[in-house]
Amino acid sequence: MESITLHVFRGAHGVGSLTDYEVPVTPGMVVLDAIHYIQAHTDGTLACRWNCKAAKCGSCSAEINGVPGLLCKTRVDLFPEGDIAVGPMRTFPHVRDLVTDVSWNYRVNARIPPLRPDPARGGAPFDLQQEDVERVQEFRKCIECFLCQDVCHVLREHQRTDAFFGPRQMCRIAGLEMHPMDTLDRRQQLHNEAGVAYCNITKCCTEVCPEHIHITDNAIIPMKERVVDSYFDPVAGILRKIGVLQRQPRQKAAGDAAPATTIHSPPKSAD
Ligand code: SF4
Ligand code: SF4
Ligand code: FES
Repeated sequence: MESITLHVFRGAHGVGSLTDYEVPVTPGMVVLDAIHYIQAHTDGTLACRWNCKAAKCGSCSAEINGVPGLLCKTRVDLFPEGDIAVGPMRTFPHVRDLVTDVSWNYRVNARIPPLRPDPARGGAPFDLQQEDVERVQEFRKCIECFLCQDVCHVLREHQRTDAFFGPRQMCRIAGLEMHPMDTLDRRQQLHNEAGVAYCNITKCCTEVCPEHIHITDNAIIPMKERVVDSYFDPVAGILRKIGVLQRQPRQKAAGDAAPATTIHSPPKSAD
């Protein structure tokens, strides 16, 4: 394949059309390289957001032949027919060409309370079991590309940004809710404003995540179960009311065989 035809969405505020560009193929070329070729040789006004070109900053999210993906991680030789359509993410307000306004995600993120360790600890180091560290670390791999938000039908088709925080924010809450030193009970937020019940476990978000986070299995389903136990299990509700059932202690018992990791607290970022 010596060249490809890129069909790139050009326009502003959702109004526009596809424009075709011929781009010569180089070894190992990714779609972002092709966009850069157009900017350098054909049309310098083509707008595209990017930063790292290493699949780590989450800036170059777009839709490639209709599938949400990172422009810098998608090789052009995945499309041997040589025709590649590139458009902006459709869930977020369109700005220009391939650029969308993803600021809603940051506003929602700001509504999630940060990690709250027990103040009585007075900044003492955390003693965490390795398995607890690994559980939370999975969610912290998120690069905030928002591809999962783009593909989620609750946000994309039904536009329920008023009712559902979306899979990216479910990962953030999971990283806090499953942190053994967090003292906040996050079930009320999950049940109400975060709208965890809106997720119907289609797993589309997991399929597009470039960090391979098991968003549905490891974040959303366990949190759904906690909310269901809290709000919809009548026996647990009665037991909790009369004080028989309490929230499970989060730290493992002393002497557990798994190796412990010490993290000196408080962490700089409470995310
Ligand atoms: S599994 Fe849930 S959060 Fe993920 S895309 Fe489907 S509905 Fe959205
Ligand atoms: S969870 Fe995955 S897909 Fe969603 S924003 Fe984070 S890295 Fe991107
Ligand atoms: S440019 Fe940073 S993720 Fe693509």
